[in-house]
Amino acid sequence: MAIDKVPFITLNRFENGFKENFLNDVTDLVNNTQFVGGPRVAELEERLSKKSGAKYVVGCANGTDAIQLALRATGVDRDEKVLIPDMTFWATFEAAVNVGATPITVDVNRETCHWDFETFKEAVDKINPKAAVMVHLYGWASPDTTKIRNYAKEKSVILIEDGAQCFGTKVDGKSVLGEALISTTSFYPAKVLGASGDAGAVFTNDEELAKTVRILGNHGRTDHYSHGLVGWNSRIGSYEALFLNHCLDHIDARLDSRREAVKFYNEQLAGLPLKVVTSSDNVDENGYSAVAMIDPNLRGDLIDTLKSKNVGFGTIYPGAMSLQSGADKYIGGKIDNSNADYISKAVLNLPCFAYITKEELQYVVDAVKSHFNK
Ligand SMILES: Cc1ncc(COP(=O)(O)O)c(C=O)c1O
Repeated sequence: MAIDKVPFITLNRFENGFKENFLNDVTDLVNNTQFVGGPRVAELEERLSKKSGAKYVVGCANGTDAIQLALRATGVDRDEKVLIPDMTFWATFEAAVNVGATPITVDVNRETCHWDFETFKEAVDKINPKAAVMVHLYGWASPDTTKIRNYAKEKSVILIEDGAQCFGTKVDGKSVLGEALISTTSFYPAKVLGASGDAGAVFTNDEELAKTVRILGNHGRTDHYSHGLVGWNSRIGSYEALFLNHCLDHIDARLDSRREAVKFYNEQLAGLPLKVVTSSDNVDENGYSAVAMIDPNLRGDLIDTLKSKNVGFGTIYPGAMSLQSGADKYIGGKIDNSNADYISKAVLNLPCFAYITKEELQYVVDAVKSHFNK
């Protein structure tokens, strides 16, 4: 039967046997009452380490906590300046504020939607920040990632990499999460590696940093009732670890299917007044989001057509960080916001999820084409 709708996202495309295998292991977990910590969490951290190339991985409660743990572990303190991109999810801004630091937003490149080297360099030279949080948005990364890392090192700026959306992404052939000084991810269910609730992780090659992250996320514990630091409870539950371990069995197939979707949109929609953004030559994206850019004056009408044809869509994100009302009280300054503002008005995300079918992709493409060819 021909389809007549495509959701923006669905989480309900599990592999054959996935649910049954997971539920069997849940029974085992409940019988063993291994609810926090234990072998499921250790297995997850080990597998994440192998997959990302980072020597140490520490699971935590969510992706926002992961950034906060990374900021605290690297010594970012009260009132210290932290650069963040003006185009990101609000959690990046929140994380800086929640550790008591002062976020300063820096505009992104209009083409890549990420920081470019020149902008980053100018911001560092002007602000002299303690730290910067580089965000790998939409499933790709800045083509200048390595240059940005090197410059941060040269200037002793702590560079934290928010990889909530970039699990599986590579720059210059190397895992983004594994090559950072310290990087973070979110396992929010809609992510490419999504849990069945909230979870996150911190990645690093530095043993001391990994130790500090683990202590901070476990009530500052240096022993069961000895507290060498003031942290908080940001432990990952065993149930989420178990679910993620089952997802990791299929992660390559899930990533391939997402990447295929983005490629299909890119090929099929070429030449229309909307441009599907793909990653730069030195970046392998993970297919987290199918991002298109369209003249903001044309976006509303296209959205109306998509709605009339029951095609789900997103406008992620519809506002720059520096323009959020919640930023007023905390923002320590901003360096331009014109590109972030433009992107927020021009971005249109098309349906993209693991195992989206060829039929569904064709339905979306036909809907977009019919809009421009009418
Ligand atoms: C770029 C970015 N940073 C941080 C987060 C926060 O992750 P969480 O929702 O797991 O706290 C997200 C989640 O959507 C994100 O996309």
